Amino acid sequence: MDRFGRTIDYLRVSVTCRCNERCLYCMPEPNGRPVGNGDCLTANEILRVVQAAASLGFRKIRLTGGEPLMRPDLCDLIRQAAAVPGIEGIGLSTNGLRLASIAPSLAAAGLGGVNVSLDTLDPVAYRRMTGGDLQRVLDGIRAAQTAGFARIKLNCVLMRGINEDQIEPLARFAAARGLPIRFIELMPITTSKAPGRLRFLPAEEAMARLGPPDAWIPSPRSSGDWGPARYYRLPDRDASIGWIRPLTDPRFCDSCNRMRLTADGQLMPCLGDPTEFDLRRILRQSASDEPVRDCLSQAIAAKPRQHRFNRLGQPCRPMCTVGG
Ligand code: 5AD
Ligand code: SF4
Repeated sequence: MDRFGRTIDYLRVSVTCRCNERCLYCMPEPNGRPVGNGDCLTANEILRVVQAAASLGFRKIRLTGGEPLMRPDLCDLIRQAAAVPGIEGIGLSTNGLRLASIAPSLAAAGLGGVNVSLDTLDPVAYRRMTGGDLQRVLDGIRAAQTAGFARIKLNCVLMRGINEDQIEPLARFAAARGLPIRFIELMPITTSKAPGRLRFLPAEEAMARLGPPDAWIPSPRSSGDWGPARYYRLPDRDASIGWIRPLTDPRFCDSCNRMRLTADGQLMPCLGDPTEFDLRRILRQSASDEPVRDCLSQAIAAKPRQHRFNRLGQPCRPMCTVGG
């Protein structure tokens, strides 16, 4: 537990800062080129962190990137992390480009769920926003459904003037496939110039495009639900629509349950705060788990009450080395 009484049992692990897309809201560099010093943790080092975290009470792991499917040893990593005593579930956040071919292996390795980024259903806009091929992502989503993951969710980052016309089509797409979709407020976490304040679209405004405020029926939180989204239904449609409001919900951080491990081995107590703990150095200095546990405990103790997005304006480090 942290000093504000929040239970921290969810570790998000960025397994690579490489990516085969370059989303407007994320990537500072051209396609695929690594950022930072590229000195990423090995699978073995990541596993040591997962083991230490599990022994402290962490129960859920999410693998992020960059694009986690860029990592060749990902399935082995999932298999080993899933076998760590105490770990109840492993999820993955992906852009979906490589999902179609690898979904069955991921499921066989023990992955419990996938969150797929889907910011628009217009192939031209998709290419403009992410640099990728929409059809491959749609194929990936279908493959994930066929592979039978327990949890599949879609993520859309709201950007004014870029994909605001897609809220309705995306909500329909998700409902037609029986998938929950989450709309996420744009966070100022990229060194790229693209997403200035003018691009910010508050969730409340996006919600109003789908239905009047009194039509939204809040869903009770389910146990399979690890994240900060608040889910709602609209009476006239069969869809679960989640809203992630880091910038406009003043209570957003109250239920935060997470710690982040960056691709280069830094522990970040909060995505919107520059504090980092150099776990990579500790992993490489000592083969023992005790110092790793100590570092995790220190990071939990250092978790701030709230993020500082509104004050920072600009990020601590690019999103692609932290994972969304
Ligand atoms: N603001 C909000 N969400 C973001 N993501 C990446 N960058 C940002 C940002 N600047 C989200 C994407 C992706 C997830 C991993 O992180 O939706 O699905
Ligand atoms: Fe790649 Fe994900 Fe960043 Fe897009 S948001 S550039 S898919 S890491």
